[in-house]
Amino acid sequence: MPKLIVANFKMHGTQAFIEDWFTNFPLEKALSKHVVVALPATYLASFRDYGLCLSGQNVSSMEKGAFTSQISAEMLKDCGASYCIIGHSEAREQLNESNESIHDKYLQLKDANIQSIFCVGESLEVKESKMTESHLEDQLSAFDNDSEGLIIAYEPIWAIGTGLVPTISEITEVVTNIKERFNNPVKVLYGGSVNASNAQNLLEKTNIDGLLVGGASLNPQEFAKIAQLC
Ligand code: PGA
Repeated sequence: MPKLIVANFKMHGTQAFIEDWFTNFPLEKALSKHVVVALPATYLASFRDYGLCLSGQNVSSMEKGAFTSQISAEMLKDCGASYCIIGHSEAREQLNESNESIHDKYLQLKDANIQSIFCVGESLEVKESKMTESHLEDQLSAFDNDSEGLIIAYEPIWAIGTGLVPTISEITEVVTNIKERFNNPVKVLYGGSVNASNAQNLLEKTNIDGLLVGGASLNPQEFAKIAQLC
């Protein structure tokens, strides 16, 4: 089963930077449907024909209407996105997103035929008080056990951008719990300080179905080394 490798550019890049990135990204065409690039929304349409799958980084929980500043699922679709990250811890915290509103985003994306990448993850405080399992369950509570076709990204907040990565057994345990919660197969990605040096070990030694890569994805050569592992 091929792995899914997702680059999360966050709020980085310009038109020129992303053109350069694609020029220097030496990926074989055969792998291109397993490699996804989550660009800032303003650049999606410009890069729709560059051979990789595109993802939004967030979406409105509403379909359309008087929601100044927001971007709908249909708009993302129009710009060429086939995936969209939702519930990223940075959006949860900086935009005050609730579990309910994130689930509404999921429903909007489903209607627009866009695959969600639904992020969950615990803070260091939650981890240290051994509450990770109940915290993740709370984040997933809007999904019933029979939900189908989910892609969940497990991203411990304390591992994002810090160089810290959970142990193989910690990741395996969390991923097993998430998979066992659902009656249908779900894909679980891992994200948090993934780079070209640790990606292979994470993919080979745990039960993850792919990776969500932030900082290391901005370097096309480094991201290509990770993407080749799919
Ligand atoms: P990082 O970010 O790879 O820079 O830790 C991952 C993410 O936030 O998706």
